[in-house]
Formats: sequence, C-alpha cells, structure tokens
Amino acid sequence: MEATSLLKPTLHIEVAVNPRRANEVNLAQLRDEVRQWLINAFSTVQVGIDTSAELGVTRLKDIVDCVEIADYTGPPAKLGHNYYDLQSVSLDIQTYVLKQETPHNPRRTIDQTSTSSSEPQQTRILPLPNTAIKHDWNTLVYDDALPARLLRYLVRMLTLLKDPNLNPTTFNWNRLALLHGSPGSGKSTLSRALAQKLSIRLADTFPTATLVEINTNSLLSKYFGESGKLIGTAFENIFAMAQDPNTLICVVMDEVETIASSRERSTSGSECGDGLRATNQLLTALDRLRQKPNVIVLCTSNLITAIDQAFLDRVDIKQMIPSPSPAAIYDIFRSCLNELVRSSLVDVATNFANPTPAPPAPVKATKRTKTRATAAAAAAAPSSSDPWTVLESPEIPIYSEMLVRFATRPQSQGRRLWEIAQRCYGFSGRTLRRLPILGLAMYTWGGSVSLDDAVLALEKAVEQELEVKRAKRDGMEMGCE
Ligand SMILES: Nc1ncnc2c1ncn2[C@@H]1O[C@H](COP(=O)(O)OP(=O)(O)OP(=O)(O)O)[C@@H](O)[C@H]1O
Ligand SMILES: [Mg+2]
Repeated sequence: MEATSLLKPTLHIEVAVNPRRANEVNLAQLRDEVRQWLINAFSTVQVGIDTSAELGVTRLKDIVDCVEIADYTGPPAKLGHNYYDLQSVSLDIQTYVLKQETPHNPRRTIDQTSTSSSEPQQTRILPLPNTAIKHDWNTLVYDDALPARLLRYLVRMLTLLKDPNLNPTTFNWNRLALLHGSPGSGKSTLSRALAQKLSIRLADTFPTATLVEINTNSLLSKYFGESGKLIGTAFENIFAMAQDPNTLICVVMDEVETIASSRERSTSGSECGDGLRATNQLLTALDRLRQKPNVIVLCTSNLITAIDQAFLDRVDIKQMIPSPSPAAIYDIFRSCLNELVRSSLVDVATNFANPTPAPPAPVKATKRTKTRATAAAAAAAPSSSDPWTVLESPEIPIYSEMLVRFATRPQSQGRRLWEIAQRCYGFSGRTLRRLPILGLAMYTWGGSVSLDDAVLALEKAVEQELEVKRAKRDGMEMGCE
C-alpha cells in the first residue's frame, strides 16, 4: 500500500493577516470566511498560488495580505499539474501575522557571554513567523516536493507525541533532523524556512514560536576547556525558553559537525580534548531537551562523515539535500530572470519590437477556476483585435509550459534557458542564483538590456563557470599524475 493513501486529502491554506488589522479580527471567523470565499470563487486551485489578487472588493481584501494554497497532503490528485478540486479535499486554513524584524528590534541575543563586541554572537533568536525569512521557502526549488515532504514529517513528528493518551517513553523520538549535502545546496535556507512553516502550520498547537539559531563556530572557544561550557550554557537557555509549552522552539544548528565531531577522531590524538568535551556536552544537552515536546532541532552539515556516531544515532530524520536537477535549474534561472524583469533592470519592451509568435497556450480552466497559471496563459494568448498584442509572454514561461509551447522553437528565451540549464547540472543552488546577475554585471553595459541580452549574458557566465570547473578538474588530474 502506498504511504500517501494513508493520508486524508487536505489542502493547506495559509492566510497572512494584515498586521494593522490583526487585533480587530476574530481568527476563527476569518478562517470560516476564507473557506467560504475559496469554495464560492474557485472550483479547482493550484498549489503554490497566492489567490489574494482575486479578492476584489470583498471585506477580506482589507484584512488579509495573502491567501496561499500552500500544500496538499493525500493520495495523488486526479487532476495533475498540482491542481485540486476543492469539493474533494478538506481545507486546513491557518492564519498568521508576520512579525517584523526592524533595525530597532534586531534579533535578540541570548547567552552573550563574550565581552568583546568583535566576537560573533553565539545564539540569535527571532520570533516566528517573521518577515526576515518570508521569501526563503518560495526561493528554494527541489524535485519531488522535497521541502513539503520534510515539512509533513516534522509536523507529524511534533503532533503525534503530543497525544495525551500516548506514553512517550515507549518511543525514542528526539525531534532532531539533519539536512546534509554539498555546499550551497540550500540546507541553511531550508532549515529556517521549515521553522517558519512549522510556526504557521502548527499555530493551533503552539500559538507562539521562536527560532533559535546557534552559531556553532562561535561555540568553539579559543580558551581550552571552554567550548563544552559554552554549549552547556546555550542549551540551558533554550531549555529555559521551552518552559512555556505553548511556544514552539525551533533550534537551527548550522555546520553541526563543528561541535558534534567524531569523538573517535578526537581521541586518536589528532584533535584536542576540547572537541571531545564539546561533543559530550551536546549529546547530554540533546538528551535533556528530549523531554520538551515543544522543541525541534534542525541541523545542517556538508561533512556528514565527520559527525559523531552517537549524534547520528539520535537523529530521527536524515535528509540528503541534492543539487538541483536540470528542471529545477531552469526554474531557478527563470525566477532570477523574471525578478530582473520585475525590477526593470531588464527591459522587456525591447523584446516586443520583434516579437516571435508563439503557439496558443493550452488554457486549462474549469468553471470558477482562477489560477496564476491560467491567467498568465490568457495574457500570453494572441488576440486578433489588438494590434499591440504581445505574442510571447514578457516573462520566461514555467518549465512545463516551456516544454509544451516552445520545445520546437530553439530561438525562444524559454527554450534557450532550458539548453543552458542542462549544461549546469552539478552546480550548487548558490552558484546558480549568482550567475544571472553576474552575467548581467560582466557582459552588459547599462542602457536598455533586453531579456534576450540577459539570457545571452547568462549563457556567457555559465560558459565561464564551466571553464573554471574544467581548469580545476585538469589541475587536479595533473596533481594526481
Ligand atoms: N535548490 C535551490 N533552489 C533555489 N535556490 C537555492 C537552492 N539551493 C541553494 N539555493 C540558494 O543558494 C544560496 C545558499 O544557500 P544556503 O546557504 O542555504 O546553502 P547551504 O547548503 O547551507 O550551504 P553551505 O553548505 O555552504 O552552508 C541561497 O541564496 C539559496 O536560496
Ligand atoms: Mg549553510
């Protein structure tokens, strides 16, 4: 039996409440209103879409900033392409108010034991959900809905053990997850984004939430024997914060191998006993935190082989974060180029001078169906009555649309971008997000830059990056000879 068939088909809707109106609204009533509005306005919806643009002049328009069809959990949907029939699913509607991180209220620090202002902060705390990380989730592109799957595991992990009828000591759950993978694959961004999503998705269980980011490097003290103590104090503070059972504490520990390095290696003589003490202290602290059902610890590492076995044994979810596939690379480049268009750094009007006709877009809509995809397709479809109609969308099309509409048009921007994406397989997300702007900086000289120019500049930046990789590989091969 497929695991997904065990899940009740549910659409998760996330509603951002306007912070200025948050004190006036009854949230339970607001959830009902949104549910009713969705059912009346749409027959099918697509996951990943913010539907708030369709609110029109309803009362909701003044109260909410975003109504996102955030996720679907359940058996594979019949409609495909991430479309769901609203009549066949339950709606799980969560409301949230984004907290501000203003310059006057920077991330609070705890455990600021260092006296020198030049020493880095050991721990930073941020109330969740927060504007500072509001875009993180949507900037990440992975195959197989990896972030959504991870989120679902974590939600279940946190809710199952809250069941009052369950004796938690029967199970060994540490609520500890490890994201590992090569540098720049998005592990840190994903950890913070998961914390943000958890705070929204679990708002019924935990009305407040806090992100605690531990700077593992700063916990390694230059004074011999101090590291263990610093780790102990940092976790002591987290334990104190977790006394309120209504507050979800999401601890993010980046580069965890720094303080959870293999004790075998420490005792083999190459490393000092301070590392060993640090690892021991961390394991003890984690065992103590286990008693707190409102704490979840998300760790990242790009050196999993260096991590202590006893630490790995405590990890409930170990998830490899892969480098993006060509289709994901296409989407990353597409989002970067479309952002350049949105910000007017790239001028699409220049392209309109010589539009190349595209075949009509496949319009896939049912009665009352409104989605961003169908709206974009409608905008891109040619109209015979308007002499100024743009025949190709001013934006780069999404991957599936590119395959359908532009596969046979090698000169179209979408098709060219796909060619480039396939050559970048193996690049990290960090490199991929840099290349479009690097290309623009290196190969264009101000004035009006068309989308064609931007794609060409990206092509050149990619070629240069491949050149560097080839030179590095050749150098390594020569070194081996
Ligand atoms: N799959 C991806 N999709 C989109 N953007 C990505 C992806 N992976 C990484 N990025 C982008 O790359 C940048 C670096 O990501 P991040 O710092 O989270 O990587 P990391 O895995 O923690 O790296 P490191 O191992 O060096 O700490 C971020 O701007 C992030 O948005
Ligand atoms: Mg990182």
